[in-house]
Amino acid sequence: MEKDFCSLSPSFLCFLLPLLLINSGTAQVPGFVSINCGGEESFTDELGLEWVPDKQFSFGETINISVANETRTQYKTLRHFPVDNRKYCYTLNVTTRTRYLVRATFLYGDFDNSNVYPNFDLSLGSTFWSTIAISDGSTIERRELIFLASDSTVGVCLSNATTGKPFISTLELRQFNGSMYYTDFEEQFYLGVSARINFGAVSVDPVRYPDDPYDRIWESDSLKKANFLVDVAFGTKKVSTPQPIDVNRDERPPQKVMQTAVVGTNGSLTYRLNLNGFPGSGWAYSYFAEIEDLAPNETRKFRLILPGASDISDAVVNIMENAQGKYRLYEPGFRNLSLPFVLAFKFGKTSDSSNGPLLNAMEINKYIRKIDSSLDAAVIAGALSSYLPATWAQEGGDPCLPVPWSWVRCNSEPAPRITAIILSSKNMTGSIPLAFTKLTGLIELWLDGNSLTGPIPDFSSCVDLKFIHLENNQLTDELPLSLLKLPNLKELYLQYNILSGNVPSDLIRSFIFNFTGNPNIRIQNNGSHTKIIVGVSVGAACLLIVAIALCIYISKRRSSHANQGEINYSTQAQRLASTFKDPPAEAAHCFLLSEIEEATKKFEKKIGSGGFGVVYYGKLKDEREIAVKVLINDSYQGKREFSNEVILLSRIHHRNLVQFLGYCQEDGRNMLVYEFMHNGTLKEHLYFGPLSSGRSINWIKRLEIAEDAARGIEYLHTGCTPAIIHRDLKSSNILLDKNMMAKVSDFGLSKTAVDGVSHVSSIVRGTVGYLDPEYYISQQLTDKSDVYSFGVMLLELISGREPISNVSFGVNCRNIVQWAKLHIESGDIQGIIDPNLRDEYDIQSMWKIAEKALMCVQPHGHMRPSISEVLKEIQDAILIERAALVSREGLSDNLSRISGHSSLNIGHHDLVGAELDISIDESVSQPSAR
Ligand SMILES: *[C@@H]1O[C@H](CO)[C@@H](O)[C@H](O)[C@H]1NC(C)=O
Ligand SMILES: *[C@@H]1O[C@H](CO)[C@@H](O)[C@H](O)[C@H]1NC(C)=O
Ligand SMILES: *[C@@H]1O[C@H](CO)[C@@H](O)[C@H](O)[C@H]1NC(C)=O
Ligand SMILES: *[C@@H]1O[C@H](CO)[C@@H](O)[C@H](O)[C@H]1NC(C)=O
Ligand SMILES: *[C@@H]1O[C@H](CO)[C@@H](O)[C@H](O)[C@H]1NC(C)=O
Ligand SMILES: *[C@@H]1O[C@H](CO)[C@@H](O)[C@H](O)[C@H]1NC(C)=O
Repeated sequence: MEKDFCSLSPSFLCFLLPLLLINSGTAQVPGFVSINCGGEESFTDELGLEWVPDKQFSFGETINISVANETRTQYKTLRHFPVDNRKYCYTLNVTTRTRYLVRATFLYGDFDNSNVYPNFDLSLGSTFWSTIAISDGSTIERRELIFLASDSTVGVCLSNATTGKPFISTLELRQFNGSMYYTDFEEQFYLGVSARINFGAVSVDPVRYPDDPYDRIWESDSLKKANFLVDVAFGTKKVSTPQPIDVNRDERPPQKVMQTAVVGTNGSLTYRLNLNGFPGSGWAYSYFAEIEDLAPNETRKFRLILPGASDISDAVVNIMENAQGKYRLYEPGFRNLSLPFVLAFKFGKTSDSSNGPLLNAMEINKYIRKIDSSLDAAVIAGALSSYLPATWAQEGGDPCLPVPWSWVRCNSEPAPRITAIILSSKNMTGSIPLAFTKLTGLIELWLDGNSLTGPIPDFSSCVDLKFIHLENNQLTDELPLSLLKLPNLKELYLQYNILSGNVPSDLIRSFIFNFTGNPNIRIQNNGSHTKIIVGVSVGAACLLIVAIALCIYISKRRSSHANQGEINYSTQAQRLASTFKDPPAEAAHCFLLSEIEEATKKFEKKIGSGGFGVVYYGKLKDEREIAVKVLINDSYQGKREFSNEVILLSRIHHRNLVQFLGYCQEDGRNMLVYEFMHNGTLKEHLYFGPLSSGRSINWIKRLEIAEDAARGIEYLHTGCTPAIIHRDLKSSNILLDKNMMAKVSDFGLSKTAVDGVSHVSSIVRGTVGYLDPEYYISQQLTDKSDVYSFGVMLLELISGREPISNVSFGVNCRNIVQWAKLHIESGDIQGIIDPNLRDEYDIQSMWKIAEKALMCVQPHGHMRPSISEVLKEIQDAILIERAALVSREGLSDNLSRISGHSSLNIGHHDLVGAELDISIDESVSQPSAR
């Protein structure tokens, strides 16, 4: 059959040529899919990647945006979705049993001109992937995840808009080769990409396609962004080589990345970076290749040092030996390592090594536990393909998780089942999908008002079915009697079909059976019982009885099913509408005064007060407990100022900041609604004893509280743009949740720092005893004023004494700072330690905190450390204290780990929580080079 090229006729060539041209013009890299969300046309970008529009996508709306300095076509458009309870999914074709990188990006560009930033969730199939919290209109948020495809499609879904409109800019799929990124846990876990760093990079631009044939994005270590690679060791030098590098193994990092590196000329390389998504269990690999010319008498040997993980430091890296030569990849790493959010790591040379360590690249991924699909996912997916042009059949993702399709309801079991199918008036044709008969959890089936034909299939395995609505179709054949025998049946509506059959009247016992308009159905009255029978032949008297019965029935059901709510007799549209929240006009939720009054029982229980007003306890209808802060009326000059605060508040999200839920502005009153914190304030715990038991909080707990608080403040100072200065840090503003995790409160009433200016001038605000003297005098506010207040809190934690007191500090001293300074500087730390701590602390960790506290309360801001430095010190103290705790109390290693919610630890304890039953070999906690 095959012909020589030469023998092809010219006309065939003419035909062939344009075809080839088109093909090369749209040449897609195999295994790559790049979707330009909201786009109109396909195009090839400057990297040579082919982008396709999502025109055929049935949901949401597209819009053009323009962001300064962003010229890439894929970022000129986006697709946004309504604010509702639904999820919106892109379905991507994949090859089963193949690993992929999926990348979603979000460039907000103020597309909706809203005064709040969007915040919504991203999921992969049924698994929650990440929350997208936009904090700035011109920064691209990016999420990447590595997965092993278990099916022929995968859904990437947006849902749960808490503020603003969900949207997406791009969606990319990159196929990996062979065993790249294989892990022993891939059946149960995805890998969420947290850091992928190219060390010694020649520019700030990332390395990606075509340098990386898999189009991973390797961030440059020269990139300047908050909390990215700080604390770089002195003597760190960049090196590079034009030599080719043999990278063809393991994860195949691109050659361009391996050709550059950093060298610790003073013997060590240190870095600290924030790991998104952590603390948690992760996959962490380093990539090494010797690219310097070492003299024969020179050696390069080094160890990885992680604080608190001494076992890791046993392994010595000798790149030349491990890689068996120069310019070759050596890739040691940990397949299961527990990592903190703030990762400080160090490579230090061994004592017998002549040269310092070298590092080319590094990659850290977080294990994201896969959520099982709902039980009916496979069954229902099979039924959809024949309805595909219909939008309801294209919703994608899992039918129930994380939120159900618009026409489906599910129960809330861990592996949910479909309980209702609501496909009224959807233009369905053909026969009733057989798949529906396999949904054994089904309670409601609404297929009325379609053009369904053929017989009614056998639903006898759906024993929970209560409501069956098949009216107004063209169903034919005999009515299966098994339908009438369903044990829980309440309503069977079959009007206006072409069904036939003889129905024994004693089958129609306790349910409503309406078969009006099916001339060939007959009731065989076989005896004494009188039933509710509605049909063409039923007389008026009977109808009356039925009507009354129905009324009673309906009103009964309304009351008994109040919380199932949606069951009613209205149209499909109304039914759906009732399940949707009112779309919030702005992101911060606006509570009605009546809601607040109901929740707080008319402001019954006061739980706190302060300069800003009074705080009340409340419980919302959905059982959420809240704290309502009623602001003193003169705290805001006008509506606008209040709105500004509210908008600011709704942009701040951090686990160590008390969550802001919404506001209420009615009747001239301004109220802010927060999550309720069960364990009150740190102040109460320190001075009035714990709320119930007579025991004071121990030292390790105090350290953990300090750590939590410092993280919250670090976020305000470094994670927000512009940075936020709290201005009123004190122990009564540190709140403790159910699990004694500390969160900073009252931060929203702060003023934002002005970008580029190191201070903000404003009227002095703060609390005596915590107030930075420099700020008081100069009225120049900087983040170091917060550090001062934080130092005072550290002294409170050590001493258990309030900052200002007439009695605590002796005759001539009324203030904790003077008092503590006197003692600490004369070496008498014992003299200030809270007697309630008894001897249950390690003196070294105590000293660490005491010394740092004194630095924080230095008279001049520039002499005080940053909150990040303080945080690091607290974390070190925690590690010391934990180690000491183990030897002091003879506690097992495991117990000490449990006490630390952010500790760094190694091995299988972490990934396999108690609920997992996969076993992980000891060997994976050792560095491995596959
Ligand atoms: C855009 O780029 C120009 C020149 O590179 C720079 O001066 C300007 O600050 C940039 N603008 C933004 C908003 O990044
Ligand atoms: C995905 O695969 C299906 C069936 O194989 C095909 O009909 C559909 O066009 C594919 N979609 C894309 C976007 O390639
Ligand atoms: C939606 O997000 C909020 C906060 O972001 C979270 O508390 C809530 O559980 C989420 N709801 C669902 C259904 O995931
Ligand atoms: C290696 O040898 C050279 C000269 O041969 C000498 O200058 C250098 O100091 C030596 N380096 C080490 C680490 O011994
Ligand atoms: C059903 O089909 C008719 C005609 O094809 C169309 O006009 C109507 O909009 C469709 N209804 C729905 C709900 O898709
Ligand atoms: C039965 O269905 C017909 C047509 O839909 C309706 O007119 C009649 O009121 C229904 N009867 C009952 C008792 O619901």
